[in-house]
Amino acid sequence: VSLARCPTIADVRRQALRRIPRFARAFLESGTGDDLCAARNEIRFAAERLVPVHLVSRGPPDTSTTLFGRRQPVPFGVAPIGLAGLIWPGAERRMANAAAKIGAPFCLSTFATWTIEEAAALLGRQCWFQLYPTHDRAVQADLLERCRAACIDTLVVTVDVPVHNRREGLRRASLGMPLRLGPRLAFDAMRAPRWTFETLSAGFPRPANLIRYVGDGAVSETALFSFLYQQFGRPTDEDDLRAIRAAWPGTLVVKGILGPDDARRAAAAGADALVVSNHGGRQLDAAPHPLDVLPAVREAVGQELPLLLDSGLRSGSDIAVALAHGADFTFHGRSFLYGAAAHQCGAEHVADILAAGFANVMAQLGCERVADLRQRTGASG
Ligand SMILES: Cc1cc2nc3c(=O)[nH]c(=O)nc-3n(C[C@H](O)[C@H](O)[C@H](O)COP(=O)(O)O)c2cc1C
Repeated sequence: VSLARCPTIADVRRQALRRIPRFARAFLESGTGDDLCAARNEIRFAAERLVPVHLVSRGPPDTSTTLFGRRQPVPFGVAPIGLAGLIWPGAERRMANAAAKIGAPFCLSTFATWTIEEAAALLGRQCWFQLYPTHDRAVQADLLERCRAACIDTLVVTVDVPVHNRREGLRRASLGMPLRLGPRLAFDAMRAPRWTFETLSAGFPRPANLIRYVGDGAVSETALFSFLYQQFGRPTDEDDLRAIRAAWPGTLVVKGILGPDDARRAAAAGADALVVSNHGGRQLDAAPHPLDVLPAVREAVGQELPLLLDSGLRSGSDIAVALAHGADFTFHGRSFLYGAAAHQCGAEHVADILAAGFANVMAQLGCERVADLRQRTGASG
């Protein structure tokens, strides 16, 4: 199917899901528990209305915003995705190329299958790094040092994984940890020949930035799993954030905030921005949607602290809704992953859908500047 026949993210998603094995679909789509939060995320935006203004003169829409003193051509970026290479080999590079093409930020995950150094070389200052705080502080310090050396200046600390995920969706698809290619997975892979061919050429995906801390030479899946199990899935408290703040001279963003008290704690620890996020529904099935907690979070931290938002956005209209409700910027996880899996240029296509769709909605609403969106919220439907 040609991308021209995939004008919405839903079309790109359908195409992507056809091309990847069942276990990769499970990894991409699943939330946690009964997947209720992930399902609610997507329908949450459908309940919102934006009211147009027609009879005033205005220029064409300017979709740019300013974030951390820097001009951003569009109010969205690529969210951090761990093990993106499992969804499509080289997915991170595809998503990064898409971000680079429109000048948007790309956030590299701690669990990325692509290195800090390569990502930063491609994206320059628009490469952000997402950190899961580690049990062994020397590992964390070394990761931050590598970011500094690569001239990355925006660090995103994710705080909403205090415990290992139970991964029900992955168990259902027989994708156990440590990863083992048993007969069930081999059967699924055979039914996705293109994915399998490219995975065999690229090598099985691994967290490229962490392998060196596990051991020298060939690192077994078992050794890797026990390292990941020991280092991650732990609470991050305000003191941990203060320690990171003291060690990190650049911009510090805290991701995974869903309430005013945590927002205040993150701000007090020195955060320069927050990502109001329920992690795409992957951590807590009963979690609220970021849109519903945004007013309380805003009230807690005042007007100045940028509030970035993700979870369930699938169109330019969803971006407009988020900004109309007071978010300053948005991030997108699955939308870009669908693109990366659907086609070689699919992630770029997704960036175009979001950028052109957002500009169209601004024009339709009669908004010349992004800030004008704030006056366009209507009654919920
Ligand atoms: C497959 C997958 C892997 C993810 N890995 C990470 C990660 O390593 N670090 C992180 O902070 N968030 C991670 N997230 C969450 C995203 O950064 C983002 O919060 C979420 O995808 C937004 O929701 P959306 O997918 O509906 O756009 C992951 C999400 C998905 C779908």
